[in-house]
Amino acid sequence: MKFGNFKIETNPKVYEPSDDSYLLSENLIIEKDDEVLDIGTGSGIIAISASTLAKSVIATDINYDALKLAEKNIKLNKIENIRVCFGNLFQPVKNKNFDLILFNPPYLPTDKNDILEDNLNYAFDGGIDGMKVINSFLNQVKNHLKCGGRVQMIHSSLSKIQETINKLEDLGFVVEITASERFFFEEIVLITGTLKKE
Ligand SMILES: C[S@@+](CC[C@H](N)C(=O)[O-])C[C@H]1O[C@@H](n2cnc3c(N)ncnc32)[C@H](O)[C@@H]1O
Repeated sequence: MKFGNFKIETNPKVYEPSDDSYLLSENLIIEKDDEVLDIGTGSGIIAISASTLAKSVIATDINYDALKLAEKNIKLNKIENIRVCFGNLFQPVKNKNFDLILFNPPYLPTDKNDILEDNLNYAFDGGIDGMKVINSFLNQVKNHLKCGGRVQMIHSSLSKIQETINKLEDLGFVVEITASERFFFEEIVLITGTLKKE
């Protein structure tokens, strides 16, 4: 597929870029010296979009098929400032802090009967209320941001948007919804949080 000037290949075991991917990719708030982390990079579409604006990007995923695909797409587009790392959330970047952290998380409420038997499950499965991975992300995100750092994350009305906003505010972020799109069955929003300087 084509996305702007980029060529993005897909793979049935990896999340195929969709409206949520485009909402984040098209509304990135990045400064040219930013060091960016893209968690759950999938095909790499968000990391690739961010790389043209940022100093450097680290792209991670828990799905090894996704990392291989992201690497392929990075090469295909001749991008040199993205590094890919395998692992769960912040585990691959334990001692590193970023200016901006991006995440289009798995947010679908998922019952045990809905679980897929392959790596694609990681793309959707947000646990019973859609908040399992999001909550784990929120518990760690502040520890990986520089002073005044930002988070931009996708959320769906199918999981608990207000709970996430409240949690970010409790952590000391100034929070705004900077983009949104409504469909007949859900609304997706882009939450942008900026850490207040202490
Ligand atoms: C909705 S998809 C988004 C993919 C891509 N960023 C996009 O927007 O098209 C969620 C991605 O997060 C990854 N993921 C899920 N849980 C994760 C975790 N605990 N740590 C790292 N990545 C995770 C999935 O494998 C998947 O690639």
